[in-house]
Formats: sequence, structure tokens, C-alpha cells
Amino acid sequence: MENSFDVAIIGGGVNGSSIAYQLSKMGRKVIIIEKERLACQASSAAAGMLAAQAEIEQDGPLFQLALKSQAMFSTLSSELYEYTGIDIEYIHKGMLKIAETEEIAVEVKKQVAFQRDWDPAIKWLGAKELRKMEPSLSTGVAGGMYLPNDGHVQPAKLTQAFAKAAVYFGAEIRENTEVLSFIYENGQVKGVNTSNGVIHSEQVVVSTGAWAGKLMREAGMDISVYPVKGECFSIRTEKPIINTTIFSDKRCYLVPKRNGEIYIGATMIEDTFDNTVTPGGIATLIERAIHLVPQIKDAAWERVWAGIRPQTGDGNPYIGEHPSWKGLFVAAGHFRNGILLSPITGKLVADLVAGRQLDETLLSAFHLERHKETVG
Ligand code: FAD
Ligand code: GLY
Repeated sequence: MENSFDVAIIGGGVNGSSIAYQLSKMGRKVIIIEKERLACQASSAAAGMLAAQAEIEQDGPLFQLALKSQAMFSTLSSELYEYTGIDIEYIHKGMLKIAETEEIAVEVKKQVAFQRDWDPAIKWLGAKELRKMEPSLSTGVAGGMYLPNDGHVQPAKLTQAFAKAAVYFGAEIRENTEVLSFIYENGQVKGVNTSNGVIHSEQVVVSTGAWAGKLMREAGMDISVYPVKGECFSIRTEKPIINTTIFSDKRCYLVPKRNGEIYIGATMIEDTFDNTVTPGGIATLIERAIHLVPQIKDAAWERVWAGIRPQTGDGNPYIGEHPSWKGLFVAAGHFRNGILLSPITGKLVADLVAGRQLDETLLSAFHLERHKETVG
């Protein structure tokens, strides 16, 4: 078994796989080391929305990063299909960010004004126009922001496609292998100790989502990544009842998938790595979803699931190199937007690892030392 690589990527979620794809394409000899299976955690639990404008409500580095990443999906979708034959189910039929009350409408209208600076096609729709577009919406809604250019993908397929494309360019994937610690000598990372032996590599990327804090403590850093569980369910209807994504707020959205399922999410439960689905969590979601789209109560039940989002102290992901361990990089903490941010994360980290010149102003918001929390 080959145990020496140019770059070892820890974590086979969407971000590790995207980084592996970009680095392999550059000609680097890459391995993805995954403790369980590819896309077994948040990257298969996600709804797959590319909701830069609905999720991020103010301008700043995260919003700019999200817009850049969102714009990459169209090309990426064909590129990944060409290399892998996997269709990531990129659908861009738009999104409606709903204001359920007149009070919320005031806030959403402000969002429309702000978002139009970035996409002039975004507009406010009153209750009548909204229901003309989506007749299944409750008669009670006050209006909403229409984002015609918004889209979504199938997250597990996106992850698999990134990984398979990396393999196409020569990467190796080692599943059921947990990284336990780093090998480090004289300021330089030299590899990792895993549950299946040593892997040598002078460049190592930690892309272990909500589990990144634990590994980084091994490298003397507290990067403040913590878990936020999200529970979801899905339904199926005989005929489609919605066409666009319906986003009420961060605790209730409906995403109509290509296979006819509607994903409905999601709860927000802090500080737990236990991804059990609870009746209480699902009951709240059902109630909110039926309130928005009453026909949901007659739909066929499909399935439930949960995943662990990687949140950070300031809400921004960590993308950067360890300040004193040469060759150790981190890409983690993408919270609610890891699917959306995965293309740009792959590109940025690959460029960092390759030592290319990057936009420092943009990257400073994602720097590992931004809280000055080095503990060792
Ligand atoms: P993960 O997918 O968690 O992958 C990390 C991997 O590292 C795991 O496979 C884990 O097994 C592995 N690992 C951990 N420790 C080790 C170790 N020591 N050794 C080896 N491997 C290890 N984002 C969006 O953009 N749009 C959405 O609509 C959306 N909806 C969401 C809905 C829900 C319910 C949830 C939970 C999340 C949602 N997200 C969404 C967020 C998104 O899922 C995450 O931000 C993203 O999947 C994080 O990807 P990742 O690769 O960083 O981490
Ligand atoms: N971005 C949707 C979620 O995290 O639930």
C-alpha cells in the first residue's frame, strides 16, 4: 500500500473532496483520509441550497466568498459530469424568501433593496403575485423576495462527484481510516498517524467539519469550531406542488428535488455531536411546513435524517495555514453554507497549498489566528 503523498486531506466531506479535486487536477499526488465513508456526515444531510442571498444578510467577506462560489456551480456541474458521469442535480429555478407576516415583510423588503446591488433581477413580490407563482403557498403569507437566479444541488452527489473527479486525476481515497495525530518535526508537518498506520506527507489539510477543533488541538490551536445539529424530513407528492425553493427563515425551508422529493429542514440544536432524529424536532418542522404550504399534510412521507453543521465563534469558516506548523492547512467551519462554499474552498485551499498568490484582503476574515487563540 502506497503511504507517501504530496498532500494528505483529512475528511471526505464536500470540502475535503473539493480540495482533493482541485489539487489532483494541478498534478499533486493526493490522498483523502476518511474515518467512515465519503459524505457520511453533514455533506449528505444538507438540503443543498446555494442560498448566498437568503442565508447571508449583510455584505462582508463571507457574502463575497459565497457569491463567488455560487457563480461557479454552472460550469462545475458540466465539468464534474464530464469527468465522472455523476449529475450533481444542479437546478436553478429560483427561490422565494417568504415573509409570513407584515412585520417580517418590512425586513425582507430591506433585504430586497440590499440584494439588488448584487443581482438586479431580485425583486419583492406581494401576496397575490407570490401565490400566482406558487399557488400552493398559504393564503396567509404577506409577500416575499424572489431570487430568480438561486439554485440547489444534491449534496451527496456533489461530494461523490468531487471525489470521483479527484480519483480521475490520480487521487486515492482511504475510507474507514481515522487520523489520530500529526507527525511534526522542526516546524514542519511530516504526515499523520491513522488507525491504519502512518501516512507521510509534507502538506496536510484538515477538512473534518465539526470535528476540526479536536484535531487542531493536537496541533496546539483552538480554532473554535462547534457542532449545531440539523434535523430534516422529506415528502413526495403525486404531482409537483412547488417549483421554486421556499425559504421562510433559517428554521424552515422546502427544497423541491429533481427526483420528486421535497426536502424540508431544518432544526438548529447547538453543542451536540449526537445526530439522532427526535419526534419533537420533526413535529416542529411539520407544523411550520404545513403552515406555509398546507397541501403538505396530504403528501406521502419519505424519510427523516440529521447532520452536524460545523459552526465557528464568528460564523466565518477557517481557511488558511497554521501560523507555525509549516504545511498544515485548515478548511473547516462552513456552518450552514458548506455546500454552497465548497467550490471556492477547493480552489482557495489548492492555491494556498500550491503557494500561489491569493487575495489577502478576502482571506484575512478566514485566517486561523483571527481570534489569537493559540493554546500551545
Ligand atoms: P463534513 O461533511 O462534516 O465532513 C467532514 C468529514 O470528516 C466527515 O466525513 C467525518 O467523518 C470526517 N472526519 C472527522 N474526523 C476525522 C478524522 N479524525 N479522521 C478522518 N476523517 C475524519 N449547506 C449549504 O450550503 N446548503 C444547504 O442547504 C445546507 N443545508 C444543511 C442542512 C442540514 C440539516 C445540515 C446539517 C447542514 C446543511 N448545510 C448546508 C451545511 C453543510 O452540510 C456543511 O457546511 C458541509 O457539509 C460541511 O462539509 P465538510 O466537508 O466541511 O464537513
Ligand atoms: N443552510 C440550511 C441549513 O443549514 O439548515
